[in-house]
This record gives sequence, structure tokens and C-alpha cells, in this order.
Amino acid sequence: MKKHLYIETVGCQMNVLDSEMVVADLKRHGYEMVDRPADADTVLFNTCSVREHAEEKIYSALGKLRQTKERHPEKTIGVMGCMAQKDQKIIFERAPYVDLVVGPGQLQQIPGLLEEIRSGGGRQMAVSLGRKEGKQETIRRSHETFDPLRDPAMRPTPFQAYLRIQIGCDKFCSYCVVPNTRGPEQGRSPDQIVREAETLAAQGCREITLLGQTVNSYRFTDAAGHQTNLAGLLQRLHTVAAIDRLKFVTNYPKDMTEELLETIRDLPKVSTYLHVPAQSGSDEQLKRMRRGYTVADYLAMMERIERILPAASISSDFIVGFSGETDADFRQTVDLVKRCRFKNSFIFKYSERAGTKAAQRMPDDVPEAVKSQRNQELLAVQDAISREDNQRFVGQTVEILVEGPSKKAKRRGDEGPLVQMTGRTMCDRIVVYDGNRRHAGELLSVSITDASSHTLIGHVRTVHTGPEVYQLQATGSGT
Ligand code: SAH
Ligand code: SF4
Ligand code: F3S
Repeated sequence: MKKHLYIETVGCQMNVLDSEMVVADLKRHGYEMVDRPADADTVLFNTCSVREHAEEKIYSALGKLRQTKERHPEKTIGVMGCMAQKDQKIIFERAPYVDLVVGPGQLQQIPGLLEEIRSGGGRQMAVSLGRKEGKQETIRRSHETFDPLRDPAMRPTPFQAYLRIQIGCDKFCSYCVVPNTRGPEQGRSPDQIVREAETLAAQGCREITLLGQTVNSYRFTDAAGHQTNLAGLLQRLHTVAAIDRLKFVTNYPKDMTEELLETIRDLPKVSTYLHVPAQSGSDEQLKRMRRGYTVADYLAMMERIERILPAASISSDFIVGFSGETDADFRQTVDLVKRCRFKNSFIFKYSERAGTKAAQRMPDDVPEAVKSQRNQELLAVQDAISREDNQRFVGQTVEILVEGPSKKAKRRGDEGPLVQMTGRTMCDRIVVYDGNRRHAGELLSVSITDASSHTLIGHVRTVHTGPEVYQLQATGSGT
């Protein structure tokens, strides 16, 4: 009998990838995906703990299932991912009708645990050891993943995929839960990664995004003592013929070495988009955050990038309103954003997280209203820069990997072969243009006619679609 699965995913790319793996696994165990929790006999939430808001969203979604579960006790409700690892039994206390709690290191156990619940075994929980709950090696092993299972149907597009090269994080920034939820930093073996890239290529994938919390700190030492870093790994992956583009996120400023930048310069398939979060523009704040670099270090890295990869685009993350942040600290962050002119920045209000150094030792002392005001101001500064930066492309021709119909076309339910399409440039800029659906997954040249802060608007003069040639008059009309 077919079992029906509904899965909801929040959080970072790691979670998107984990959900892909879990779905691939469950499909092999006879599950079929459905679009609504009401149609499912198994409902899974893949969760994130990075900020309180992300957790509240999940607890509220769980709350909505309380009545459903009362009416249909045979439905299984599961919580997986970072919040499962962080809250563990608290989830059963806050939502007693949850049947399953599974941390990011135990995802491979999900089919078995679901079977156990179904056959009357009661509530199940499987999580990794905490950072102090055993020997290093035992803790490490309790965080293993099961990456080789891939399911193209679960990806946003069949020709783009994530590939995990590193799990966990050892940086222990004072505000961050990730080193607790994802455990110790571990690089996967390059042989395994290359094999997985080949599998992805065989499934029709043309763009791979390598994932790691500090992806450029990637290291793997084999049995013979030979060490591979990200530069070495990129060189090996570059030889996978069917792959056109390689990206990697997220970078740690201190590990953006000249060797890595030169490797990126010398490998044409490697994207020149670098996401390198700065988090703050104040040395005092960076110290309290335990980021391990100063503003001068960050600017020196920007200088290295500018020198070796002049066409690169850089994006960043910032936390505003972290413990002790004064107005003067915040002004320095604004100055850094203006000086670096990031392609875009993700800006977050500080959210205190249980179990972190900051929660133990640093008061959450910036009022919410001040956090919001700083958030708005920094967003506005970044937005103006992004808009100006995008204007430079007007009149130029860019090459994009076509992803498919744009959000607008999907929202409107546009039909027919010609719709508003979307794609991305090598440096991760979003382009929309009117074109043929059949180009999804292809590299295409588009001339840019207009730009907003988030989107370039383009025009394709001639679209070859096999034997016929369409003349497209239309120019894109925005998203
Ligand atoms: N490993 C990545 C990102 C991890 S989380 C890195 O180090 O860059 C993604 C972003 O969430 C972080 O870059 C940070 O800006 C933000 N973040 C992490 N913990 C947070 C917290 N407690 N409150 C608000 N934002 C936070
Ligand atoms: Fe969190 Fe810092 Fe690790 Fe990023 S580098 S995941 S912010 S501890
Ligand atoms: Fe969230 Fe876990 Fe990712 S806490 S940001 S889902 S690693």
C-alpha cells in the first residue's frame, strides 16, 4: 500500500538538501509525496533553530495539526532537523501529539522509525550527542549524514543541485546554535564528493552548489596523509564534463586564501559569486561575536578578491542589535556596507539562542525597536547599492543558466511556450526575460535593458528552438 508523505522545509540550503535525501529514501520505502498535510498519513517538518522566529513558525504549524491528530490519531507527525537536535524532548512537551523527533545526523533512520511507530512502538526520538557528551570521535560519528541518495524530482530545478562537502561547524561564533545542532566540522572525502557529482551529472544536473557552513575551510586528509582543500576539490570537480557551473556557500572570511582565489580565476566553470558574511563592521562587536577577524582583515580579504577576481560579486550577512551594539558600532557596520558595496546582504536582527556563549554571558540588551530601526536602515543602504550596482549591466549582454518560468509567470499561471522566464548569471544575478520554456536548463545570452535592486530585466533577440526560429519582440516587464 502506498503511504503518503507531506514535508515542509525551513532553514538553510543544508535543510533543503536534507529534505531531498529523506524524500528519496522514503520513496524507496513506498511513500508518495502529496501537496497538503490533509492528504498525508505522514507529516514531516524539517526545522531550523538559527533564530527564534524560525522555531516559532514550526511550533505554530505544529499547533495547527493538534486537532487533525485528535481526529486522525493514525497520522504520524515528525520533527526533523536542527530544532529536533536542539529541543529534543521539549518538542514532545510543547506538542505532545508529535510522534517522531530526529536530528540532522539521524535522517537515515527515518524510514525505520516511522515503521516502528506504525507498528505500535510509540513515540520515537533519535538525536546526536551534544558537544560535551562523549569522546570527540563518538560525537563526530553521531553526526553522520547519508548523502548519496539523490532525487532529482525534489530539486527546485532538475539541472541544479546542492552537494554537501562539509558537515557541522567548529567556529563557535558566540551567537550561533549551528555548532551545537550540526556538530563538529567534518569534510567528506573528495572521492565520495566527485562520485556524487558524477551521479548528479548523469541525472541531468548542470550546476552544482557545494555546501558547508564554512565551505572554504573544507579539509580532508586521506589514510595516506594527503590533504585536500577547497581549491584542490574544485580542480577535481572541474573535470566532470557535464557540469557547467560550480558554486559554493558559505565562506568564512579568514579562509579566503590567495590560492583559492587564484584557483577560482583559473577554472572557468567556477562561479565568481562569493558569499562571505562579515556580520558586523565594528571590531568590538566582531570580538564579542568571536568571529576571529577584524574589520581590517575583512577589508584585506576584499582587496585580495578585487585584485585576483576583479569581476567577482560579493554578498554578506549582518546581525544588527547583537549584545552591546552601540550606535557607533552600528554606524561602522553601515560604513562597511558602503565601502564594500556588496551585491546583496542578508540582514538579521539578533535573536538570543539557548546554549550559545552569548546567551550565557552577554545580555540581549538592544531594545527590539532599535534592532528594527537598524535593520531597516541597513536594508535601505544595501538596497540602494544593489540598485546602482545592477544599473551597470544595462546595455550589456550576460550569459545565464535558464531556470524556468519566473515567479510572476507561475503566480499568474501563464500557459503556452512563451512566458516570462528567469535565470542567473555566473555571479548569481537574477535575470528575467520573455522567452521559451524549452530553454530551461540551458545557457543563454540575454541583453539587459533595465534593472532593479534584485533583478536584471533582459531581452532575447533570437530564440532558436530546433528547426524554427522565433523573433521575440517583447522585453521583460519585471518580476
Ligand atoms: N555558516 C554561515 C551561516 C550560518 S547561519 C556563516 O558563518 O556565515 C546564517 C546567518 O544567520 C549567519 O550568517 C548570521 O548572519 C545569522 N545568524 C546566526 N545566528 C543568529 C542569531 N542568533 N541571531 C540572528 N542572526 C543569526
Ligand atoms: Fe554559526 Fe559562525 Fe559556524 Fe557560521 S561560522 S555556522 S555563524 S558558528
Ligand atoms: Fe538553520 Fe540548521 Fe541551517 S539552524 S540555518 S537549518 S544549519
